[in-house]
Amino acid sequence: MGLLDGKRLLVTGVLTDASIAFNVAKLAQEEGAQVVLTGFGRLSLVERIAKRLPEPPPVIELDVQNTDHLDTLADRVGAHLDGLDGVVHSIGFAPQSCLGGNFLNTSWEDVATAVHVSTFSFKSLAVACLPLMKDGGAIVGLDFDATKAWPVYDWMGVAKAGLESCSRYLARDLGKHGIRVNLVAAGPLRTMAAKSIPGFKEFEDSWPDRAPLGWDLADTAPAAKACVALLSDWFPATTGEIVHVDGGVHAMGA
Ligand SMILES: NC(=O)c1ccc[n+]([C@@H]2O[C@H](COP(=O)([O-])OP(=O)(O)OC[C@H]3O[C@@H](n4cnc5c(N)ncnc54)[C@H](O)[C@@H]3O)[C@@H](O)[C@H]2O)c1
Repeated sequence: MGLLDGKRLLVTGVLTDASIAFNVAKLAQEEGAQVVLTGFGRLSLVERIAKRLPEPPPVIELDVQNTDHLDTLADRVGAHLDGLDGVVHSIGFAPQSCLGGNFLNTSWEDVATAVHVSTFSFKSLAVACLPLMKDGGAIVGLDFDATKAWPVYDWMGVAKAGLESCSRYLARDLGKHGIRVNLVAAGPLRTMAAKSIPGFKEFEDSWPDRAPLGWDLADTAPAAKACVALLSDWFPATTGEIVHVDGGVHAMGA
């Protein structure tokens, strides 16, 4: 028996095989789930990466800033799956001016892009998938602890604070549909999104030492396992929660 036997999942955010979402899709398939991926932009690249999964899944296009993509998402997923039991939001983007110590000078237009893609999209994706979630289910998003001001993370940190709040409001409004909404707050991982953060090395240098359990910057498995657990039936009464998968850093003082 797999943890996700019979579950039908939509997983966003696969870009490379280092993407957190890649490992979520892999573990989910190993635990018995049927998976459909969404890809943004370079679809042929995502399709190539998808072939490295145990069961190469269908890849459908989704730019969360494109309302046509969102409006047609349920129909396009419905062509592959007769419903959804789980959705993974593993999407984040901020223009360069939002990151790296430029906090006081970033324009609203750039902040708006970061919030649209990284925060508002959690709601957009949930609403777009709702018609397929008739039996309830679980929605899981990827977070970076937004209770603190970090070096270099800047407006992405503000976007993540919004994501944490958005998750609680979604939990409030989707509970009546039997849908749980939770976040996994991962420690720093060497993905494309992380490499685009100027000064990411500051996290890399300090995190493994500060984590009571230690921290492997190249291992997305702990975060992916938490996502799979939250998608499973083993968190039936948990919603609006943030599970920290960071080696324990969030719980430590300086
Ligand atoms: N890498 C880390 O250190 C870390 C830590 C905690 C949380 N996270 C979060 O994990 C999530 C996944 O990031 P990752 O680290 O796996 O990096 P990644 O670069 O592999 O994934 C980011 C994904 O966002 C997608 N994306 C960007 N703009 C989009 C748009 N307009 N529409 C749809 N998709 C879009 C990209 O195509 C990509 O697949 C993000 O929310 C990120 O903030 C990452």
